[in-house]
This record gives sequence, C-alpha cells and structure tokens, in this order.
Amino acid sequence: MKHMDEILASIHQIPPFPQVAIKAMDIISNTQYVVSDLVEVIRLDQSITANILKLCNSAYFGLPRKVSSLKEAVVYLGTIQLRQVLLASGAKDIYDRPDKGYSYFIGELWQHAIACALMSQVLARHLRLSLDENSIFTAALLHDVGKVVLSTYVSQEFAEIETMVKKEHLSFHDAERRVLGFDHAEIGGRLAELWKFPDSIVAAIRFHHEPEKSPKTFRLLSELIALSDGLVLMVGYGTSADGLSYHIPHLLVDKLKLKKNDIEVLMIKFQEEMDKAQEMIDVKDVL
Ligand SMILES: [Fe+2]
Ligand SMILES: [Fe+2]
Repeated sequence: MKHMDEILASIHQIPPFPQVAIKAMDIISNTQYVVSDLVEVIRLDQSITANILKLCNSAYFGLPRKVSSLKEAVVYLGTIQLRQVLLASGAKDIYDRPDKGYSYFIGELWQHAIACALMSQVLARHLRLSLDENSIFTAALLHDVGKVVLSTYVSQEFAEIETMVKKEHLSFHDAERRVLGFDHAEIGGRLAELWKFPDSIVAAIRFHHEPEKSPKTFRLLSELIALSDGLVLMVGYGTSADGLSYHIPHLLVDKLKLKKNDIEVLMIKFQEEMDKAQEMIDVKDVL
C-alpha cells in the first residue's frame, strides 16, 4: 500500500495553479479595479488571453464585429464571466496534462468539474447562500483534483479501484480507501494546501464526500459542493469510473430546504449555463 506522502512527494511535476489566474482574480475582487492593470496581468498567460477573446467572440455574446483587443474583451465580459473564465482556464491546465494517465478519464473529470462549478453557482444563487462566489467556483472546480493525481501517479492501483467500483458496486472513494488506505478527497485537500488555497477551499475539497465532518466554519461550502456533485452525477456529468454508486445526498436536500420543483427549475438553469460553458471554455476540447 502506497503512503499518501509518498504520492504527494512524487507530484511535484503537477504545475502550481496558474499565478496569472490567481492574480487577476485578486484584481477583480476590488470593485474599483483599473482595467489596464488587469490586462497587464492577463496578457502574461497566452491560454487565458485566448479563452477570453474566444468567449467574447462566441455566439453567446453575439457581438456585431470581431473583438481582438484584450482590453475591449475584458470590458465586454464583465466581472462574473471574467472570473469564470479565469478559474476555468487555470484549472484546465491541471486537468489537461501531457502525462494525463487515464486520458479518457481526465476528459470526463474535466467536464464533471465544470458541471459541478456551474451547478454550485446556480444552487448558491437560488438558495441565497452567504458564500463567496470565488470560493464556490474554485472549490467545485477542484473538488476531484485528487483523482487527477491518482490516475496519473498510481495508475496500477487506479485500475484496481476502477474494477472494484464496477464489480463490487462500491462508491469510488470507498474503493480507494480499500486499495490505498485513503481517498481522492484527502489527497485533493493536501494538494490545495500545497497550492496555498484558503482554508475554506481546502476544507470543501477535503470533505466533499463527508461534509458533516468539515470544520463548522466551512461546513456550508462543503455541503454545497457535496450536493452539487451529487446532482451533476445524477444528470449524467460524471465519470465512467463512478459507476452508479452515487446518489443525491438527501440529508443535504432537506437541510438546504430544496423542494422537488426547485430541483427542476435549477436543472434548467444549470443546463443553460452548461451549454454556455461548452462554447466558453472548450469543455469538449479536452474530451
Ligand atoms: Fe469526489
Ligand atoms: Fe465529483
């Protein structure tokens, strides 16, 4: 059995979360930010710059002419869309790696991550949760990042876990615990710590399969991510390795006071966001 520290020591090749994305998010968190300061930072990262221009010129915005200036694009997009594209571009570097191990799996996982990020945003708005949108989106996008590590660095054990999920109908994290002695949520939490993400995000990643164990201050965020995870799996944005072993955490549905009608409305909103995202952040390119 491999020790978690042994695996963590071998993952120094995983790139840090792109600093450009983090810095740009920092700038836009100030409502009085100066556009040229933001442009200075963003243009240091080619793929983020390309994604912003692509989104701005997408059918979704339906602009009458092509925008080729980053400055102009930033103004058109506005803070909310910008934040999404920054985070999604940043996270894509993590998922879309040359040594991506189980490549089919990583593609599915990337789509699952985007789906969970959008679902948690839709849910948080609907429920008017007093949580920071940046933290929600980041935690949801990275909640399964531990699976990237496992599928890339312990591929033999990963195959064993996958077989166990399929044959014994275990949940993915239960199978991981049997084979490795720990699960992707734990390793993802450690990775987020190494990347120096705030404690709230570390906790939401670490406890997304057992939000009841999350420290009280971060519990709501952990619960939101857990519920979004369950909902997107239910509508088919999961990975084949997950099998049919997940279900919606009913306790959370009750606790967050979601009604059946609410879920239907939410699903429609979520699907609209997901369609937009397909165009916006190249979800399909990685698949
Ligand atoms: Fe997970
Ligand atoms: Fe997940």
